[in-house]
Amino acid sequence: MSRFLNSSLTKLVPYTPGEQPQGGGYVKLNTNESPFPPSEGVLNALCVSEAQKLNLYSDPTLNPIVSALSKRFGVENKNVYAGNGSDEVLAIAMYAFGENGFQYPDITYGFYSVIADFFRINCARPALKADFTIDISDYMGNDRAIIIANPNAPTGIFLPLSDIEKILSANPDQVVIVDEAYVEFGGESASRLLPKHENLLVVGTFSKAWNLAGARLGYAVGSEELISDLNRLRCSFHPYNINRLSLLAGQKAVEEEKYYIACREKIILTRARVQAALESLGFTCTPSKANFIFARPPKGDAERVYRALYEKKVLVRYFPSGRTKEYLRISVGSDEQMDKFLDAVKSIL
Ligand SMILES: Cc1ncc(COP(=O)(O)O)c(C=O)c1O
Repeated sequence: MSRFLNSSLTKLVPYTPGEQPQGGGYVKLNTNESPFPPSEGVLNALCVSEAQKLNLYSDPTLNPIVSALSKRFGVENKNVYAGNGSDEVLAIAMYAFGENGFQYPDITYGFYSVIADFFRINCARPALKADFTIDISDYMGNDRAIIIANPNAPTGIFLPLSDIEKILSANPDQVVIVDEAYVEFGGESASRLLPKHENLLVVGTFSKAWNLAGARLGYAVGSEELISDLNRLRCSFHPYNINRLSLLAGQKAVEEEKYYIACREKIILTRARVQAALESLGFTCTPSKANFIFARPPKGDAERVYRALYEKKVLVRYFPSGRTKEYLRISVGSDEQMDKFLDAVKSIL
């Protein structure tokens, strides 16, 4: 740390992302990326003639991606916002709507607390129930804004939309962010509740179900007023927040959703197969509706299994504190990757 850093920032604890080894030889099941490449149209669009335009700034209205998403969600352009990954969308939204603080479960996406610390937003974190589900009575009438990852991470558990609707109705004066990073793997989007709930902001990402983690693209869908608030902040901070190639990649991806639906279906089938195999080996798994499995090894010795897998160059995610410390989060990769993972697990057990 330099002696020049603002004293108020010296205690910031940055997010620890899952490892991204740049060399080969790893079975990489630690950051919930898709094992499949982007669709043909995306690959063809990222061509020399587009790269030649990189001397020019990208579209500050984000029109290519905003128009594609508004069609997909059946809303208007003024209802869609886009960001440089959903992490950026979440940060802007928490800064915009967190004056009285935020509330989210004790076990959820770790970045919410990092953002809260960054912007000095106070947070309440009611505990998930013993089975890792959300106790919605904790969210009935709040003086804070709310974030629910749905499906939740790292548990993969989906909260039914009837419960999301109860939370929205009980908190009409608070923004409720539903972070749908994993919703395409078996959940149902809360976006259909938008016409009835002006306090709902649905956030999504291209990193998981759209095979575009490296493009860094995220979005939000909500009322015209919420979206205009987000754009007010964006244009006060980083108006060209999405680069030309990512805007184009996202637009093409949305046009070719059929391909991504097929990829998601493969992942859902593989998830069921691997979960059954793990259970037959004595693991306990939560009912995941995401592209990962949250699994407790037979004796809860997740740390040992994590380390042993690492030795075998199989990377999964381990969260070593609190109630998650007996579990591993395993991204669902290709069948070939998952076979290697299962072979490694068998040899370790
Ligand atoms: C629940 C959840 N939300 C948001 C994100 C951020 O995704 P990105 O910034 O890649 O769009 C992640 C990433 O793992 C996540 O798990």
